[in-house]
Amino acid sequence: MDHFELRNGELYAEDVPLARIAAEIGTPVYVYSRATLERHARVFREGLSMLPKAHLAFAVKSNPNLAVLKILQREGYGADVVSGGELERALRAGMPAEDVVFSGVGKTARELLRGIEAGIGQFNIESEEEGRELAAIAEAMGASAPCALRVNPDIDAGTHDKISTGKADNKFGVPIDEAPGIYSRLSSLPGLDMRGVAVHIGSQLSDLAPLEKAFTRLGRLIAELRAAGLKVSHADLGGGLGVPYKAGEVMPSPAEYGEMVARVTKDWDVTLMFEPGRVIAGNAGILLTSVVRVKRNGNRDPFVIVDAAMNDLARPALYGSWHDFDAVRPTGAKMTANIVGPICETGDTFAMGRHMDALEAGDLAVFRTAGAYGATMASSYNSRGFVPEVLVDGDRYAVVADRIAPEAIADAERVPDWLLG
Ligand code: LLP
Repeated sequence: MDHFELRNGELYAEDVPLARIAAEIGTPVYVYSRATLERHARVFREGLSMLPKAHLAFAVKSNPNLAVLKILQREGYGADVVSGGELERALRAGMPAEDVVFSGVGKTARELLRGIEAGIGQFNIESEEEGRELAAIAEAMGASAPCALRVNPDIDAGTHDKISTGKADNKFGVPIDEAPGIYSRLSSLPGLDMRGVAVHIGSQLSDLAPLEKAFTRLGRLIAELRAAGLKVSHADLGGGLGVPYKAGEVMPSPAEYGEMVARVTKDWDVTLMFEPGRVIAGNAGILLTSVVRVKRNGNRDPFVIVDAAMNDLARPALYGSWHDFDAVRPTGAKMTANIVGPICETGDTFAMGRHMDALEAGDLAVFRTAGAYGATMASSYNSRGFVPEVLVDGDRYAVVADRIAPEAIADAERVPDWLLG
């Protein structure tokens, strides 16, 4: 459920007409709903309420905007970060360092050091090599870094190949059959406090079965580690829950997910950790755009050319993803069209042959479910700027990220003296 709804024939974000934001801020623009973010944060927490000990860490990569992080911090969420930049954002948003989990296969020595210095709650180590490097850095600082070992359970999450992370040939985690040896060796290093295991098999999962399989394997590993006399007090179950991208599509609910987790983990006696991203932010944002023109092409479907492009919302070009596309002032008339941006490559296509609201030049429309992996994946390709972000709260709104003009990007570039004159 979200708060982008029609009122008197016009699309609103909570109590603010989107046409007003378009007029005052310009398009394209990302618009987030505070009420939707809070609702999703609470529904997810509620879904896990039968678990004795749960730690919630919002996956910052899905939407790193500081205002969005602030909302989640106020909802009691920590952060799952994957870079030094995300770590600083989480801290700036007021998330306590001990509620931060640092994941990622390529943490640099500098990032590991910064994590220890900041006192983060947990490093999710993705290889023995990384563990040894972290141990050396921590020991030199007189610290002991709290760690979980991320395992790769070799499970097909049944999602898009590019966002699948738990198969043996993916770069993530250590092979689950090698985990006991690695965990035991890392546990003997004074710079590390090995306290648990972690798993994340992919994103936009529409079925709980692969997750259940992965968690079951993780449970067996925990038992094996304990039988070998090793300490396991935490288990991080990652993120991955899918969201509906098409009106009417049904996904497993947080309650169903929570029920499955409670059943599988009932004997684990650990603090369970979660890293939800999309399920919190996905449907809490839209990308508001204007139609530049409608190009008619003989008797083929027309091209509806919008002012947003693949650099602003990369998902359709990258993964072939579907985003519902609706007029801000629908007339009831429909058309079948190809929705494209202005960028000079065919990949800049949001949808082909889409049956949609009829639109003309100058009309406003939205790409829905753009709150996760939207603005954060933008680039400045074709010397386009960065789209601003707006947060709506009831009948008020604020610009929470400025538009970055192409000129500002060019201002950061230099032509060396030796090319002049
Ligand atoms: N934890 C880890 C270790 C992750 O790698 C991810 C996502 C998450 C948590 C959050 O997963 P979520 O709950 O959002 O599914 N750009 C892609 C999605 C990439 C996801 C990467 N990892 C997209 O637009 O679909």
